[in-house]
Amino acid sequence: MNEYKLYKCQICGDPYIGDDAPINCPYCGAKKHYFVDARDYLNRFEQENNFTENEIENFKSSLKIEIDNASFYKAAAENSTKDLHKWLFKSLMKVESEHASIFSKHLKITKPELVDMDASTDGEENLQESHRREQIAIESYQKYADAATTPRAKEIFTALVEIEADHLGLDD
Ligand SMILES: [Fe+2]
Ligand SMILES: [Fe+2]
Repeated sequence: MNEYKLYKCQICGDPYIGDDAPINCPYCGAKKHYFVDARDYLNRFEQENNFTENEIENFKSSLKIEIDNASFYKAAAENSTKDLHKWLFKSLMKVESEHASIFSKHLKITKPELVDMDASTDGEENLQESHRREQIAIESYQKYADAATTPRAKEIFTALVEIEADHLGLDD
């Protein structure tokens, strides 16, 4: 009999079934070492995190970045003419939306809707814009990670620096 295993991502909290934990979380992109056996999962969204005011402010700024970027990727997926570009931007839209969910959960608010945005029909141009956006995200999250004092805030921002840096490496 095939034995599957149930894992949980400690960054986004989503469950995953597989023989092994994935190299990257299919939902938020977090790296494998953030996965634990579901039985050992500690719910970081419900534990007492005691975030500082500064961390809460940085969560709010991060939420804006993620909604903005997810909205851009949605437009880029719709407008780009080549399939490869459409698929790339669609998958980035999903990951950034998941990041918006993480921040919304910690802020205890409903995740904001994506907004209408312009994107080019030229996927290459959209890739350039993607790199500009990811660069800003990485710089922001690095700054927020350095400033974070509570373990969960540090954990999230550190993981996001890694994830968005992976996005910078994407090309068609
Ligand atoms: Fe995840
Ligand atoms: Fe993100």
